[in-house]
Amino acid sequence: MTTTDSDFEVDPATTILGIETSCDETAAAVVTGGLDVRSSVVSSQVDLHARFGGVVPEIASRAHVELLTPVVAEALVEAGVDNGGIDAVAATVGPGLIGSLLVGVSAAKALALVWDVPFVGVNHLEAHFYASFLEEPGLETPMVVLLVSGGHTMLVRFEDHGRYEVLGSTIDDAAGEAFDKVARYLGLGYPGGPAIDREALKGDPEAIRFPRSMIDEGLDFSFSGLKTAVINHVRKHPDASTEDVAASFQAAVVDVLVAKAKRAALEAGAKGLCLGGGVAANSLLRERFLDTCTEIGVHGFLPSRAMCTDNAAMVAAAAWFRLRDDGPTPLDAGADPNLYL
Ligand code: KG4
Ligand code: ZN
Repeated sequence: MTTTDSDFEVDPATTILGIETSCDETAAAVVTGGLDVRSSVVSSQVDLHARFGGVVPEIASRAHVELLTPVVAEALVEAGVDNGGIDAVAATVGPGLIGSLLVGVSAAKALALVWDVPFVGVNHLEAHFYASFLEEPGLETPMVVLLVSGGHTMLVRFEDHGRYEVLGSTIDDAAGEAFDKVARYLGLGYPGGPAIDREALKGDPEAIRFPRSMIDEGLDFSFSGLKTAVINHVRKHPDASTEDVAASFQAAVVDVLVAKAKRAALEAGAKGLCLGGGVAANSLLRERFLDTCTEIGVHGFLPSRAMCTDNAAMVAAAAWFRLRDDGPTPLDAGADPNLYL
């Protein structure tokens, strides 16, 4: 077998080392058979970026270079596999920060070459879907996934492994980006999502009626008007309670996300509705999402908070199915910061 052999046989014992470095988490995981997570190590760079109020790409790439070797070593040790126990090495090839992506992709290719095993390039968005399968392998299809992260907001109809259709996406800011920008404006620090989530618990979600942009139209999203409305409100009412602003902003985002997910599930004839991406860790969204699934009679699935945010187990899981269906990725394939689904 060569490292680009398209006849590579994938079976339930195939063990994949996954690497994730698309943004500010350096992660490695070992997954067997696409679903059995044997280790998952995530080293967050949040503390490095917090004082800048957001991810600084140059700092992120340098930190990945320093952290990746120990993170991979820990994932291998925790999984109890030695070098000979890995059958393929996968890495996120996009979308993400190009400098960060290249660190993971180069490391994965180097390991694949040294161990003479296939390399598998994984789409980060596709990987987020697999977070759900890892925790609930029996998910029924077709299902609709609401993927809400710092860089993306999309509704996807998932028909089968590798077969999906984007039903809607944001026309401006991503949901997580709106959380991060509003939190920054309110002085709540970075990352903004968890900060707003915490602050909102103490506030009144009905205190301010922020706009629910495009809530009655189609399946695309727009959050930039909401962000501007929050900023204008705080400028006009400098004494407004931060808790109430956070709670009212969060309620507006969640209303829109839930309304569109419901519409998508009904239109797509989905049997299940899943959440994915960092914003899926949001407490109000999780609660309202499950209520909506019960209301429309579809199976609702929420990955654990650790599985919602970036990790490499989802990369290794997605890679198993990619390898099974398409074979290895050529070693001369590059990283693509704007990779789409
Ligand atoms: O998927 P992810 O870890 O990285 C990307 O691929 O973007 O998502 C990160 C995003 C950030 O915008 C962060 O503020 C948001 O997820 N986030 C949250 C929560 N936890 C993380 N947003 C709202 N509520 C949360 N609890
Ligand atoms: Zn992500």
